[in-house]
Amino acid sequence: ESPKQSTDEKLQKICQLLDSEVPHFNWTGFYFKNGDKNELKLGPYVGAATDHIIIPYGKGICGQVAVSNETFEVPDVHEQDNYLSCSIDTKAEIVVPIFKNGENIGQIDIDSHTINPFTHEDKEMLNWLCEELGKIL
Ligand code: SME
Repeated sequence: ESPKQSTDEKLQKICQLLDSEVPHFNWTGFYFKNGDKNELKLGPYVGAATDHIIIPYGKGICGQVAVSNETFEVPDVHEQDNYLSCSIDTKAEIVVPIFKNGENIGQIDIDSHTINPFTHEDKEMLNWLCEELGKIL
């Protein structure tokens, strides 16, 4: 691997790997705090294009995680009122925050076309990944 690989290239490869290895991950991407603003900005992702490039803190599942600092697993998105729809195919979602030096700097967001798809192993893996990313970002 090239040592010159940019952070976005690494994150893009992580998305590609997760997308190809986990059949029930149908949209995999990153959102990060947008500078000093209280909003998230879309980073690298794999999946259908989304209208939600910028998400204000508090809005949708992603915006709520930006404020709560806690993983938000949604087994059935139709049961959520504060939800931003990206695709009519999406049935479930999980968002895991990424902390750098204790600060919530962003998150990984996974959408699934299956209801209640996320396993214990998925969540352990995503927690591990986000902890590792917090050390290198
Ligand atoms: N569904 C998310 C918006 C991002 S898309 O899933 C890519 C939300 O409610 O925050």
